[in-house]
Amino acid sequence: SGPLVIALDGPSGSGKSSVSRQVASRLGLAYLDTGAMYRAATWWCVRNEVDLADQSAVAALVAAMPLDIGVDPAGPTVHVDGVDIAEAIRDSTISTAVSAVATNLDVRAELRRRQREIIDVERTAGFSGGSGVVAEGRDITTVVAPDADVRVLLTASEEARLARRSLDVHGDADASSVEATRDQVVRRDRDDSTVSQFLVAADGVVTVDSSDLDFEQTVQAVLEVVERSG
Ligand code: C5P
Repeated sequence: SGPLVIALDGPSGSGKSSVSRQVASRLGLAYLDTGAMYRAATWWCVRNEVDLADQSAVAALVAAMPLDIGVDPAGPTVHVDGVDIAEAIRDSTISTAVSAVATNLDVRAELRRRQREIIDVERTAGFSGGSGVVAEGRDITTVVAPDADVRVLLTASEEARLARRSLDVHGDADASSVEATRDQVVRRDRDDSTVSQFLVAADGVVTVDSSDLDFEQTVQAVLEVVERSG
């Protein structure tokens, strides 16, 4: 079997990052977190004190962003201008601001170009010998890599997604923690949906609904899609 490109999209709280990373790890593939690239772009804009509503200033900054994204699933890394920002980009200030940057169409064109470049490198001469990549985000199955060997949309009910994100961020899923997470899940998905279509599977994309699956069962479900398409 040749190099394998797996594209996986989904809304926030669907578990797509941890599931993609685990699938990549088990199959010996690279792991590309495209959300981390949009988060890095947002961090870079905030750090340079640009008004996020100033579309052309934001686009110019992102075009020149010295981003280095590491794709080893054992420890993905994110550096901008040599600064390790893996933790900083998970901050709630970034989660709240990221949609404003991700809905900038010039930013999307620039990051899409970089994402395709990384996928091409992993397809041919990747970190694990050119065996391929699992690329994860909002528009990978539809726009970035519509020609991927395997395309999966990972969904989950709003209730399940809120509970998961709440556990991640607050360490519990009681009523007030879930409410505090609502903006970062529901509002963000609504804003993101204005530029990417990730709530319904596009033609040829296989839906995996993880609402009633635990982590391992979800990983298995994705691996089964990969096997079926091989
Ligand atoms: O997946 P994650 O929550 O880290 O993504 C952060 C943000 O990056 C999303 O809310 C969305 O605005 C943006 N994004 C995107 N296209 C992608 C991946 C992420 O617009 N392919």
